[in-house]
Amino acid sequence: MVRLDIPPAVAAPPDATVTVALGDRTYDILIGCGLLARDAPWEGLPRARDAVIVSNETVAPLYAERLSQRLSAQFARVHSVVLPDGEAHKDWMTLNRIFDALLENGCDRKTVLFALGGGVIGDMTGFAAACYMRGVPFVQVPTTLLSQVDSSVGGKTAINHPLGKNMIGAFYQPQRVLCDLDTLRTLPGRELSAGLAEVIKYGPIADPAFLSWLEQHMDDLRSGDAIALQHAVRRSCEIKAQVVATDEREGGLRAILNFGHTFGHAIEAGLGFGVWLHGEAVAAGMVMASELSERLGMAPTGLTARLTRLLEAAGLPVRGPAGLSPQEYLAHMRVDKKAEAGDIRFVLIDGEGSAVLRPAPDGLVAQCIEAHTAPA
Ligand code: NAD
Ligand code: GLY
Repeated sequence: MVRLDIPPAVAAPPDATVTVALGDRTYDILIGCGLLARDAPWEGLPRARDAVIVSNETVAPLYAERLSQRLSAQFARVHSVVLPDGEAHKDWMTLNRIFDALLENGCDRKTVLFALGGGVIGDMTGFAAACYMRGVPFVQVPTTLLSQVDSSVGGKTAINHPLGKNMIGAFYQPQRVLCDLDTLRTLPGRELSAGLAEVIKYGPIADPAFLSWLEQHMDDLRSGDAIALQHAVRRSCEIKAQVVATDEREGGLRAILNFGHTFGHAIEAGLGFGVWLHGEAVAAGMVMASELSERLGMAPTGLTARLTRLLEAAGLPVRGPAGLSPQEYLAHMRVDKKAEAGDIRFVLIDGEGSAVLRPAPDGLVAQCIEAHTAPA
């Protein structure tokens, strides 16, 4: 008998759809395997002559050709702009390269931009779309876990200024978000872990059951199990979609999505941006923020220990870097976007699956930092 060498079937879950309900700016997030290999997910987008794929030097060689094939069924012309990779290039000069390409190719005001990459590409493409001819449609095609569960959803777009991260930007919603889980297969493990930090944050702020699910499925997520990844991306997007639909422009509630970020931004800024990945800094920051919530008698007792175990299982740091003093943290925190007139406000857990934005005494904040800093 001839034995055929057929690999075992890989479980691919059916596509899931999450809707971000924003009136006439409502859009869907489609989450599934092999979206870039199928035409249907790309149908029904705004009609235009031109589509422009914006990507970077790392992601374009992996996925731009496949995306271009899908789009050429609908658009007469498909252009591509390939930017340098990295947070250091999320600036005016690089943004201008998108405008150069649009103008050089005679792209009109119906042109649809496609952001193919992680959060850096998504934020820059979204901002370019908000500005070009006072606004053209754009589609998010996030290829990192962080961008699938956070940055591609909710319409925050921005570039950095030398004096501050994400300081120049706009709220501008995409037409659709297409999360192809297969793209996560090429993502370095460190980047996957960084994305898991943003997944984990949704548990303590909004969904105790999701926190328990993550505790049971962390190994599946880290090994790339498609069913587990789809559940994690879908639940994260559902929670973010609900928060954004309630408070699109961060009048209040939306700030809870920044759990751990006040401490995390201080770590990123204190070490110099790029030394720790954003998700890594947020991980250690969530431990500190949880400790602060517990010491204020707000969070359930034991949350900090529980979060620490889960973040460790996700391959993330749970202590701030040695050598960064509480005074340095506090100085960076005073220029955080959530600070008001220099008063620092923290996202604090105030019960199972619930968070609020509050100030806290500097002395207590310093104790929490010291309790969760690596020894020198
Ligand atoms: P990133 O965009 O820099 O991507 C991380 C790295 O992975 C890059 O080197 C990228 O080229 C590479 N990469 C991307 N997809 C890949 C793939 N499938 N295979 C192999 N390599 C791949 O970083 P990120 O973590 O995705 O996003 C961080 C950015 O997102 C920051 O600029 C942050 O400010 C922003 N952000 C925005 C929001 C928002 O609401 N708009 C929320 C959170 C973060
Ligand atoms: N990432 C936080 C927000 O979108 O508000």
